[in-house]
Amino acid sequence: MNPFIKVKYPSNIALVKYWGKHGNQLPCNASLSMTLSNAFTELNLELSEKKNNEIEFDYFFEGAPKDSFRDRILNYLTQQPEFYDVLKNYAIRAESHNSFPHSTGIASSASAFAAIAAAFLNASGNEANFDQNASRLARLGSGSACRSFFGPYASWGHLAEINGTSDEFATPVTAIHDNFKTMRDAILIVEDAPKKVSSSVGHGLMEGHPFAEARFKQANTNCLEMFSTLQSGDFDKFISIVEREALSLHAMMMTSNDYYLLIKPGTVKVIEQVMQFRKDTRLPICFTLDAGPNVHLLYPSTIEKDVQMLIEDINSELKAVIYDQIGTGGTILS
Ligand code: DP6
Repeated sequence: MNPFIKVKYPSNIALVKYWGKHGNQLPCNASLSMTLSNAFTELNLELSEKKNNEIEFDYFFEGAPKDSFRDRILNYLTQQPEFYDVLKNYAIRAESHNSFPHSTGIASSASAFAAIAAAFLNASGNEANFDQNASRLARLGSGSACRSFFGPYASWGHLAEINGTSDEFATPVTAIHDNFKTMRDAILIVEDAPKKVSSSVGHGLMEGHPFAEARFKQANTNCLEMFSTLQSGDFDKFISIVEREALSLHAMMMTSNDYYLLIKPGTVKVIEQVMQFRKDTRLPICFTLDAGPNVHLLYPSTIEKDVQMLIEDINSELKAVIYDQIGTGGTILS
């Protein structure tokens, strides 16, 4: 057993959104994401053998003990039978840090739980079918985390039309046209305060939502279309699916019984400027949104310089810009 385990797992941005879950973290619809590379979590585990049966788990986030994270992670770890032996036999010191600033409001649960699941599965010595197994375990911590194991694109959720897709774990999307192999994601930070309604609560509000069934159907259709679009290289279709998905996600929030808004005036301004820029230049650029006010700009590397000019124009609306790009998934570093 290696007493020092070091892993690095990226975040991902959903092109088709997971929104609504049932059972044990199973999605109500299929989703499809682009794996990122610069936004990642690095996690170090230090394991030392112990004799007693008490759990000894210390958790440090960016150098300092963080009890709220520790409790959520320990609660997750103790629920996975795969990790029992590691928790029973070793005192564990975990140290985690993110490559992206904590205050930007960027979702970190995807990269965090991908890293946790991979590190603990590695510690358990269970190597068979590693990525699929780790993806399934990561999903139990945070749904979107299961897609961070594969790149450049991954899908999660069973689709009868696509072999190998599953509700339990994500799978790589392999047929990708050259047009979509060099995609960039410029994350425009409109607001960096913590959001008022968590994703978990948001997922919950899809239960009994008046548009739930139509939304789940729409997402599955969009997912299938995205599979064929990524293969054909059609930017117009890509843009149409991605932007429709972003706005549908937020429409769900605005129309749930306990309705709420996560977008801000700056979000709308930025979206309108992106749309106008596309109209004026006919360049293949589009926006997407997570469960928050910040705008992700997706575009191929070939138009990087033009996008830079757009961002300079929008700059007064922004708190920060984080430049990211398509990636291949995570790694066990040692
Ligand atoms: C809008 O994966 O954060 O980013 O499973 O409760 O941890 P939990 O939710 P989470 O939800 C992500 C929602 C989303 C869309 C997506 O990534 O597909």
